[in-house]
Amino acid sequence: MLSTIQDLAFLVAAILFILSLRGLSSPETARSGNAQGMAGMGLAVLATLLPALVGAEGGGDLIGRLGPILGGVVVGGGAGLVIAKRIKMTDLPQLVAAFHSLVGLAAVLVAVAARLSPDALGLPQAAGGHIAMASLVEMGLGAIIGAITFTGSIVAFAKLQGLVSGAPLVFPGQHALNALLGLATLGLVGHFASSGGTELSFFLAIGLSLLLGFLLILPIGGADMPVVVSMLNSYSGWAACGIGFTLHNSLLIVTGALVGASGAILSYVMCKGMNRSIVSVILGGFGGEAAAAGGGAAKEQRPVKQGSAEDAAFILKNASSVVIVPGYGMAVAQAQHAVREMADVLKKEGINVRYAIHPVAGRMPGHMNVLLAEANVPYDEVLELEDINRDFAQTDVAFVIGANDVTNPAAKTDPASPIFGMPILDVENARTVLFVKRSMAAGYAGVDNELFYRDNTMMLFGDAKKVVEGVLKSGSAH
Ligand code: TAP
Repeated sequence: MLSTIQDLAFLVAAILFILSLRGLSSPETARSGNAQGMAGMGLAVLATLLPALVGAEGGGDLIGRLGPILGGVVVGGGAGLVIAKRIKMTDLPQLVAAFHSLVGLAAVLVAVAARLSPDALGLPQAAGGHIAMASLVEMGLGAIIGAITFTGSIVAFAKLQGLVSGAPLVFPGQHALNALLGLATLGLVGHFASSGGTELSFFLAIGLSLLLGFLLILPIGGADMPVVVSMLNSYSGWAACGIGFTLHNSLLIVTGALVGASGAILSYVMCKGMNRSIVSVILGGFGGEAAAAGGGAAKEQRPVKQGSAEDAAFILKNASSVVIVPGYGMAVAQAQHAVREMADVLKKEGINVRYAIHPVAGRMPGHMNVLLAEANVPYDEVLELEDINRDFAQTDVAFVIGANDVTNPAAKTDPASPIFGMPILDVENARTVLFVKRSMAAGYAGVDNELFYRDNTMMLFGDAKKVVEGVLKSGSAH
């Protein structure tokens, strides 16, 4: 009876997770998707604790059975709450990386616990009292994927947080070493499973995987980090899935697979957005050149056309169509509300205003969509790259606010550029391009943007929010 209730609750939770993922796929339904995910997780936790709650498992009194778990929930949940409240939106990618490392570590610890106390976790036994071979395979795979996720995510966190240089750490024979380590790890898991659970091969495999996680992510340069974070997200899901098999927990299998598959799909979408090969991401070490060129690129000394807020207000008021292109700088300046106000004013003048979103604008997937939604920008004004790119040729003003790499034509024309091959927003085709940024500094990929020097470009130097507020003020003074 109890297990039937638990299975049913798990089924409902799994359905809620699927609905949640569907909801999260669009900004309009993201809030309800989030709520469904939370409800699913709440139900999953309750159903997992059900046997202990009703006294069917664990023995002792209720406090004794649930105390340690509730203690963990309070400490972990409390830490999560404080971190989530404090984190800046621009720091979310590294937070996600840090959280993935914990999922990886949890997978390793559960696998170790399962190996050391199989009875306590109810693992099926084969003849002779050994742990069944299938369980050993699942346990071994869960542990090594978890270990790679753990150390890989720590490196991703450290790079994104600026604790270690974003520059790639490359050395000769790196790929061969990684391949060797990978094969040795799999060999050890094979030995672990076929020998009935030799502890030495198990712990050696975990040790090599921890090393592999470091080595796989260290050579990856800055501009490709988002794909890596999403890929590690996928790995952490598969690690959880593997552990779900070990523990015979159907919900963990389903949830892990959902996280693994959605992370892989997101990585694929991002790879497409940046024109990178997903195989190289999985193997690690791609994009090294991107970061190698980053930061150190020599600045050109050519003159640029610089304008004031009044100039911008004048140009905008005389336009009949404006496309706003937000990027990382809009997020830093928190200029989204001012931008929406400016758009409202322009729309009142009968000007057609839309927003163009590049798939990797900002520092995390959907970054710009979230900011614009927060500022109540109508969803139908927000268009993806493929839906708006052709329209730039008929656009009077491309208002580029804090975006840089995602507009850089070098991605199309310069095979030596680290961003070569990345699809870009063709703002250069607009009649006038207004660039709002603080200086001539490069963006994330560290490369100069040739558009700044074009005849139809006007630079509006300053903090994004202040510039837009200035434009608003000048506009109303006209
Ligand atoms: P970037 O190319 O990084 O350019 C942002 C620009 O914003 C900078 O050139 C900077 O110039 C300007 N800026 C910074 N603070 C500002 C402020 N307060 N006010 C005004 N401007 C400000 O950004 P992007 O065009 O959005 O491209 C995203 C880049 O990040 C891509 O290379 C992408 O691969 C990478 N990336 C993306 C993600 C995801 S998933 N979205 C994650 C990690 C990395 P100034 O310093 O001159 O102001």
